[in-house]
Amino acid sequence: MAPEIQILQQPADVYRAAAELFVGSARRAVEERGIFSVALCGGTTPRSLYRLLAEEPALRQSMPWGQSHFFWGDERHVAPSHADSNARMAMEAMLSKVPVPDANLHRIEGELAEAEEAARRYESALRAFFGLAQGEYPCFDLVLLGLGGDGHTASLFPGTPALDERERVVVSNRVEKLETERITLTVPALNNAAHVVFLVTGADKADALAAVFEGAYQPARYPAQRIRPAHGRLTLLADAAAAGKLGRQHVRDQETLGRRQ
Ligand code: 6PG
Repeated sequence: MAPEIQILQQPADVYRAAAELFVGSARRAVEERGIFSVALCGGTTPRSLYRLLAEEPALRQSMPWGQSHFFWGDERHVAPSHADSNARMAMEAMLSKVPVPDANLHRIEGELAEAEEAARRYESALRAFFGLAQGEYPCFDLVLLGLGGDGHTASLFPGTPALDERERVVVSNRVEKLETERITLTVPALNNAAHVVFLVTGADKADALAAVFEGAYQPARYPAQRIRPAHGRLTLLADAAAAGKLGRQHVRDQETLGRRQ
């Protein structure tokens, strides 16, 4: 399925569109199945989205927090108290401010001595939550992903072992250039989601965004190109700065759309 590309003028417009999409996805999932499962992304981009969901009354009141289950697409090999922790960022920006039961927060235990142990425990938790048989992958209602300037997403970095994992749901991944271990959902796990949404803002992402979404297919060089949901939707929400090097076709569509709205 081709990605749905939405180019919004400013980062604030991206966060608003993402928040409305997030709440819509949650409400539909709860309406249909009584439960919503989302894999959050880390880094800096989504922080403003998480704050908006927790702090804007209309959004906060629309979210079915009690039936929503929060997972993470990846985590650093650090404790949840560490400044680099994706869980800490989401807790501070959103989850500590909203009425979500602790039992609905499914953290990757980055504090464990061995990243591989954290990966195995998280995979077990996912298998239990989604009732997975061997060879099956979780189907998150929504997966949020960021994009690194090198074309990585989640903790799937160029040239790292996790890129080619086809069996596991979660793996630890040695990222030499960062001299660190990460824990990440694998490509097949991400691609089994019902809806994957990339959130990308800032001119520093323009080259990577154009390469990933319009360039030649080079999945070793640009891991984000491997994210192609098998059955689900793929959406890109980007601001004009990050979309600055996308073909005019996308920008023209957005301008036309903008005039119609
Ligand atoms: C992480 C994320 C990572 C992030 C990109 C973009 O753990 O850091 O999973 O994939 O989304 O690196 O990061 P920024 O939003 O900080 O640019």
